[in-house]
Amino acid sequence: MKRDRVRRILSYYGSKIKLAPNYPQPKFDKIVEPFAGGAGYSCFHWYKKVELYDISHEVISAWDYLIKNRDQIPFLPVDFNHLDELVIPIGAKNLIGFNLNAASASICKIKSVWGRNNNSFWSRYLRKRIYEDSEKVKHWKSHCCRFDEIKTDEPATWFIDPPYQKNGFCYKFGSVGFDYNKLRSWIENLKGQIIVCGNNYDTWFEFDNEIGSKNQKKQDNIEMFSEIIK
Ligand SMILES: C[S@@+](CC[C@H](N)C(=O)[O-])C[C@H]1O[C@@H](n2cnc3c(N)ncnc32)[C@H](O)[C@@H]1O
Repeated sequence: MKRDRVRRILSYYGSKIKLAPNYPQPKFDKIVEPFAGGAGYSCFHWYKKVELYDISHEVISAWDYLIKNRDQIPFLPVDFNHLDELVIPIGAKNLIGFNLNAASASICKIKSVWGRNNNSFWSRYLRKRIYEDSEKVKHWKSHCCRFDEIKTDEPATWFIDPPYQKNGFCYKFGSVGFDYNKLRSWIENLKGQIIVCGNNYDTWFEFDNEIGSKNQKKQDNIEMFSEIIK
């Protein structure tokens, strides 16, 4: 059965929304993203039981709002100068803030000059589009916590996409101080299908596949992944 994908919900730095079709198909009913960000892989496979986790409250409050308050989305403001002037729930602010600029690593407060005349940023058009797509994700669950606080006893498709070691410093919770050794040991205890992502500069994990997108071959950074089944 052909299912239309969920289009980009959060414009997020490092999002896998475009690359999602190039990763292995999920083999389990449940997808867990311990480093959810914009949840590009889950947006592509939205009809699965999806569990999103992220240490960032900005990220998870935006997903929570989308999942639990979708009926309010059509009433969110689009004409304003600064996010701080809006009297709306924090999750709604963060949903808007991640859509004011391209590929943000944290929320923005004002629209970029370019974003003001561009429908792919927060606008009436994008609000309607996100509202339509939110119907598909209303069965998802989202939680704000560290990856090592997630229950790992059940097999699932685990999509592991931590901050890049070299270029992942720009997130509020990024590569600086991140314990990649701890993550590698944690991954060893997971059961099911484990897809681990990184790029060619990452040394914490031995990746065996390059993502085969034509555009990315021209770039310096090459997206990599490994798939483990156990
Ligand atoms: C590369 S981004 C994920 C991008 C995502 N796959 C997408 O498609 O948009 C990495 C995410 O890891 C989160 N993060 C960083 N440290 C974390 C930790 N210890 N536990 C859970 N999440 C963490 C960051 O907040 C960030 O959202």
